[in-house]
Amino acid sequence: MTVFARLLGAVLTAGSLTAASPQDEYDYVIVGSGPGGGALAANLAVSGHSVFLIEAGGDKSEDPLQILPILSPVAAETPGHSWQFFVEQYADPDQARRSPRYTYRTTNGTLYYGLDPPLGAEPLGIMYPRGAALGGSSQVNAMNFIWAPDNEWDHIANLTGDDSWHHEEMRRHFMAVENCTYVPEGTEGHGFEGYIDSSLGDGASIAANDNAARFMSELFLQVEDIEVDGTDTMVELLDRDMNGIENDRYEGGFIFNTPAAISPTVGGRASIARHINSVVAAGHPLTISFDSLATKVLTKKTFWGKPKAYSVEYMVGEGLYSADGRYNTSQTAETRTVKAKKEVIVSGGTFNTPQLLMLSGIGPRDELRKHGIPVVANVPAVGNFMQDNYEVPAMNDVDLDPCTYTFDEHDPCFVQWQETQDGPYNDDSDILYLSTPGFGGFGGFYPGYSNITITPTSWRTPIVKMQTANAAGTVKLKSANPREAPAINFNYFTENVDTDLQAISEALDLLFNAFDGTGIPYEIAYPGPSIDWRQAFMDVAFSHHASSSCRIGPAGDLDYCVDSKFRVNGVDKLRVVDASIFPRAPGGMPNGPTFTISRKAYETLMEGS
Ligand SMILES: Cc1cc2nc3c(=O)[nH]c(=O)nc-3n(C[C@H](O)[C@H](O)[C@H](O)COP(=O)(O)OP(=O)(O)OC[C@H]3O[C@@H](n4cnc5c(N)ncnc54)[C@H](O)[C@@H]3O)c2cc1C
Ligand SMILES: *[C@@H]1O[C@H](CO)[C@@H](O)[C@H](O)[C@H]1NC(C)=O
Ligand SMILES: *[C@@H]1O[C@H](CO)[C@@H](O)[C@H](O)[C@H]1NC(C)=O
Ligand SMILES: *[C@@H]1O[C@H](CO)[C@@H](O)[C@H](O)[C@H]1NC(C)=O
Ligand SMILES: *[C@@H]1O[C@H](CO)[C@@H](O)[C@H](O)[C@H]1NC(C)=O
Ligand SMILES: *[C@@H]1O[C@H](CO)[C@@H](O)[C@H](O)[C@H]1NC(C)=O
Repeated sequence: MTVFARLLGAVLTAGSLTAASPQDEYDYVIVGSGPGGGALAANLAVSGHSVFLIEAGGDKSEDPLQILPILSPVAAETPGHSWQFFVEQYADPDQARRSPRYTYRTTNGTLYYGLDPPLGAEPLGIMYPRGAALGGSSQVNAMNFIWAPDNEWDHIANLTGDDSWHHEEMRRHFMAVENCTYVPEGTEGHGFEGYIDSSLGDGASIAANDNAARFMSELFLQVEDIEVDGTDTMVELLDRDMNGIENDRYEGGFIFNTPAAISPTVGGRASIARHINSVVAAGHPLTISFDSLATKVLTKKTFWGKPKAYSVEYMVGEGLYSADGRYNTSQTAETRTVKAKKEVIVSGGTFNTPQLLMLSGIGPRDELRKHGIPVVANVPAVGNFMQDNYEVPAMNDVDLDPCTYTFDEHDPCFVQWQETQDGPYNDDSDILYLSTPGFGGFGGFYPGYSNITITPTSWRTPIVKMQTANAAGTVKLKSANPREAPAINFNYFTENVDTDLQAISEALDLLFNAFDGTGIPYEIAYPGPSIDWRQAFMDVAFSHHASSSCRIGPAGDLDYCVDSKFRVNGVDKLRVVDASIFPRAPGGMPNGPTFTISRKAYETLMEGS
């Protein structure tokens, strides 16, 4: 032991590392402030533990881009709020480049997306935003707040043999997170004192819009065999609770209004970042290091057992990461370290958690060696088995929308939002959930996607395919440089191909049948007329709910990354708490489930296990 202490001392005096101020030691050091790490840091600090939270971005929680729901896509594309990764969706470059959103860097440095890149353009991939400021992606996401199906939790309980993951136990954690504003206080299964306000989209405004109501009626008929007689019935049906305690809520199909992480008092995003700030303001022992990119978890060898995490190294500066729009290779940055008395917790999200683990020598041995990184623990599951839901955008040109999207006094929807903090701009997008939850309002990600020239005559309905069972995605290092984003490939449609494509096909059929039933004239603008639907789906599919790149499983099994107590295989005092641990995509929407596991991690740590 003394030997190691001295070695460390020598490194410190050599001046390459600077201690973090004001202290250099905290109970917990947490990397990443999203729904995984941010919520955990706040909970631990409120319980009196000193926490050092390392966040690559700044705090933008009072910026209207993060508050006003309709502007959330802009936040997801604005440097300082988010990072833009470029990912591959297929191993085969020809298939990959069939996507109309595939993006290239042209020889003069501008970005081009489309099917006809200029000569010499460098292929980058499909744009894939991630929040990169206090609160992580939950500050820039689309705010749909949907809990996972019960069987996803039961699956984890089965897989790990740990009954505390059973859905009834996990419901408790969800309730601790939630402040539900749309059911009467005391309703079973909901929480009313948590840090995330939840509300329900405005069913009445859908029912009040003639064409939308006709369309919804048609869907009720086709999906549920219900003939809707009148506005009140429709509102009642739409307001059925997707997050209720009933465990048949995912059985069969039903159409519902989406619960959203939107606070009715604010008329905007229910913000974990604001909650974190309030915990700091209340004097709890939480220190946040902003604009700080964690580059390595430092581990010590122990003579008697596993290596042990004791410290985190990080660089200080804005826009240090290559996925950041402000990135500048010639920028230099100071490197610091901070020590953890108890534990280090990595919560960088599905792309960054495996990257940081691998930079720290924890990952597949061959991958590490390729980049000259000394192996601390050979954990093949790091950066493997990544999953995502597929989304296939469908777009119809019909007439449905009163908003002008000019956000000024001539825009009735904006005026309504200013006066009442309510109306379409405080709603979820023009979503329609089929038998599987979906996410709406756009046709995928590409440079400039958030500059929505909204055509009021367009009805866009991405179909989300959950439980895709394609665990073929990978996150690999491009280099040992912590500032360089990793190589990400989802390897779409590698496993379970026929089932997934068939399900998407049926969902689309249903959608267009419902449109046909309304008698409203429309044209399919997207995916467009096609003779080969399977090919068309593969070409336009996209996703943005990545998970599972450090999946949970039986303790010590190297096909898995962490055990049921979030402990990384082969390393002591190191846990992962974020969306990367889900063994399968947790239903259609990972945000609520990630808050839920964060609360569970808090309880696990409090129990001292
Ligand atoms: C545009 C968009 C729309 C979405 N819509 C929805 C939706 O409607 N509903 C839903 O349920 N989900 C949605 N999601 C997904 C959801 O937000 C994420 O699944 C969830 O936030 C994941 O939480 P996390 O804690 O795992 O990671 P993140 O929320 O991504 O947080 C990771 C944090 O770690 C920081 N970080 C990463 N690496 C480092 C490092 N090396 N050093 C320091 N800090 C680091 C990042 O800056 C970030 O703040 C959406 C996501 C996006 C991007
Ligand atoms: C850059 O190159 C692209 C493709 O060749 C071209 O369309 C664009 O106008 C160029 N932009 C500038 C600023 O030169
Ligand atoms: C869990 O295991 C039990 C018993 O083997 C089985 O009946 C059940 O279907 C499993 N549940 C899930 C969600 O995997
Ligand atoms: C829960 O939401 C209600 C309604 O918006 C609000 O009045 C209350 O203060 C919130 N409670 C907490 C604990 O944030
Ligand atoms: C990049 O950083 C260098 C060094 O700090 C600086 O001189 C240069 O102006 C920066 N370039 C841009 C485009 O900001
Ligand atoms: C947004 O799109 C419009 C119309 O396509 C274009 O004129 C404008 O320059 C774009 N704005 C930005 C910020 O890209």
